Amino acid sequence: MKIMHVDASAKRERSNSRALSRYFLERLRDERVEFELDYLDVTLDTPPHVTEAFAIATYKAAHERTPAMRATLAPSDALCARLLAADALVFAMPMYNWSMPSAFKAFIDSVTRTGVTYVHAEDGSIVGQLGRQKVLFITSRGADLRAGSPYESMDALTPALRAAFGFLGVARPTFVDAQPLQFADPEARAAALERARGELAEVAAQWAKDAHVTERAADALCQADAE
Ligand SMILES: Cc1cc2nc3c(=O)[nH]c(=O)nc-3n(C[C@H](O)[C@H](O)[C@H](O)COP(=O)(O)O)c2cc1C
Repeated sequence: MKIMHVDASAKRERSNSRALSRYFLERLRDERVEFELDYLDVTLDTPPHVTEAFAIATYKAAHERTPAMRATLAPSDALCARLLAADALVFAMPMYNWSMPSAFKAFIDSVTRTGVTYVHAEDGSIVGQLGRQKVLFITSRGADLRAGSPYESMDALTPALRAAFGFLGVARPTFVDAQPLQFADPEARAAALERARGELAEVAAQWAKDAHVTERAADALCQADAE
């Protein structure tokens, strides 16, 4: 299995979301899932922000693009290829001002491409091309935005991620949200991290189960071919 792992926290060693995404991959290894990793730190390799040239080139039919347009789209083409080649996507990020870090928004702007990550079907409907990928979002939040909290209605992160990736065909993403962290007492923070690690271990166990089923099916197919 090929996993694309994207981190988006401005913090490095101190980052909770980075630690949780590493924890998830460790759990997968513990579950004996074999995977190849494609790692992207969008705070270091930030995809280019949308420019006028990009906005024009992206909606131009591929066969009508000039060499300059193709050059403008090249970084986005490369990122889309990485995304489409992955079998699973692990995106880890903090909540910043109720939504996502701008570097991750730049990533979304770069990978939402007509004719590449979504296509128009003959009946006019849009077909997202990420329908086969498993997708896990790991988010870290300073406040507690869980149901019943006074901050619940401020969550502009989960709906934005659901919408952007739903459009690309991700129907059932998994969310593990660590909260409250920064704006909580040490006990509440420790409990939030423990809760998130517990949920991540469950997701890893589920992914392992699915991967082992796929492996067994592939083995059975090979055996049938050989007979
Ligand atoms: C610039 C900035 C804006 C933030 N905005 C919010 C926010 O709107 N809501 C919230 O719950 N936490 C907010 N936080 C807190 C972070 O989401 C929290 O500390 C999180 O654990 C950071 O993740 P990280 O450790 O991976 O960097 C903000 C933190 C920073 C640095």
